[in-house]
Amino acid sequence: MVRLPYFTALTTLFSYGLLFAFGQMRDLFRKILDLPKSKKVQGYAPICLGLEDFYTRRLFLRAQDCFGRPIASAPDAWIDVVERYSNDNNKTLHRTSNITKCLNLGSYNYLGFAAADEYCTPRVIESLKQYSPGTCSVRVDGGTTKLHTELEELAARFVGKPAAILFGMGYVTNSAIIPALIAKGGLIISDSLNHNSIVNGARGSGATVRVFQHNTPSHLEEVLREQIAEGQPRTHRPWKKIIVIVEGIYSMEGELCKLPEIIAVCKKYKAYTYLDEAHSIGAIGKTGRGVCELLGVDPADVDIMMGTFTKSFGSCGGYIAASKEIIQYLKHTCPAHLYGTSMSPPAVQQVISAIKVILGEDGSNRGAQKLAQIRDNSNFFRAELHKMGFEVLGDEDSPVMPIMLYNPAKIPAFSRECLKQNVAVVTVAFPATPLLLARARICISASHSREDLMRGLEVLSKVGDLVGIKYFPVESENSHAEAKLKKLD
Ligand SMILES: Cc1ncc(COP(=O)(O)O)c(C=O)c1O
Ligand SMILES: *[C@@H]1O[C@H](CO)[C@@H](O)[C@H](O)[C@H]1NC(C)=O
Ligand SMILES: *[C@@H]1O[C@H](CO)[C@@H](O)[C@H](O)[C@H]1NC(C)=O
Repeated sequence: MVRLPYFTALTTLFSYGLLFAFGQMRDLFRKILDLPKSKKVQGYAPICLGLEDFYTRRLFLRAQDCFGRPIASAPDAWIDVVERYSNDNNKTLHRTSNITKCLNLGSYNYLGFAAADEYCTPRVIESLKQYSPGTCSVRVDGGTTKLHTELEELAARFVGKPAAILFGMGYVTNSAIIPALIAKGGLIISDSLNHNSIVNGARGSGATVRVFQHNTPSHLEEVLREQIAEGQPRTHRPWKKIIVIVEGIYSMEGELCKLPEIIAVCKKYKAYTYLDEAHSIGAIGKTGRGVCELLGVDPADVDIMMGTFTKSFGSCGGYIAASKEIIQYLKHTCPAHLYGTSMSPPAVQQVISAIKVILGEDGSNRGAQKLAQIRDNSNFFRAELHKMGFEVLGDEDSPVMPIMLYNPAKIPAFSRECLKQNVAVVTVAFPATPLLLARARICISASHSREDLMRGLEVLSKVGDLVGIKYFPVESENSHAEAKLKKLD
């Protein structure tokens, strides 16, 4: 839970207020000055206008250099960030041929498979030679290779479901599958902080969407009870079906889903559960099987298990794992399966190889080592950040750890100061988070050595002092010990 300090809330609101007021004023002046020109395009409605456009121009573009930095290497523990310069106050940025080697605290490369790997990379290269980068066909035509069927079986086995179906993109997996599962007359109950792909899938389905308070099973129960009593809008007929959608690890919060409690509520009211494991599959649980394994939930109790290959597996694409019946149904009805070109074969091979390493089927214990490493690294880093007085969100074991920044001016300041010290961080702000809750999102990888992490902590601490984001100074262990000693005296 966010503990936004009162004073910070005030200054943050004030900053946005100021930016808003000056932005509006400048827009007004521009409109007046542009009035003679605008006559030429009369008759057309403005195509890019509105509050979000205002936000982009007046707020986002000022910190543009902190986003979309071009990268010139694999997203390993260290990455090459391309240097850029600007001649117009960062309105337009130009690449140079120089690069800065930075400690990478931003990629979702949880298990380190995204960089060259002794088992995966040679097999991916072989598959590239055998199959080429693209299948040039949809799955039902010529786009189902041996690799695709192998991965479907392997993914199903890995997550503990009878069957699975692949998609070329994680985002599409949610946004195209949800409309295939439910339509008008159905009810979707969605966590308030679910990913945009879920939000858009739910909206596109035509089903009624209700939101429950983030990760709060008691509120989910309240919403379920209310909605079941009310039934469909106007007609009050019973809902055709109800699906509850949650995530394993919330990507902007680093929090674990309260899955056991949520499953219990869903069972009580006969609602289906849909679990998005984009950030949790591969990254948590003793053998990497995600939030079910970590929290002791039987995968049989989750009706639809969704996940992506873009994080722990270092590839691209997504999957749905469910009963044979559901997967068969999706293969016959889901437009993204029927009309979208299938996953790139080398990307499929990468996932197959990565899962085999995780399962130890490569004949080594590297998978187990990686899983132990990501857990140790995450818990170490999180504990140290806490000690330094940062406001860190999320749970133990989660490799995602947001550091709250709040103030709009602190977003670019934090990002630029870190980059100056050769640490690449990701900052996130509106619209990915609520306006007042801007943050930096640290992602830890199994490929970080303890030395890397120490270096990262040192820089974050320095920059944290400079930018003023150590909102909750913790009493140091020493002062505790001293206090105890004094009592003993
Ligand atoms: C929870 C969640 N679901 C789905 C996606 C989309 O997956 P992809 O990036 O593979 O398209 C993401 C992406 O980050 C995510 O965080
Ligand atoms: C432009 O970007 C550079 C590099 O990130 C930064 O140091 C500088 O302050 C920015 N300038 C403006 C006017 O925002
Ligand atoms: C690249 O870096 C060198 C050394 O720091 C510097 O002298 C040079 O101007 C940079 N080149 C560009 C294109 O920015």
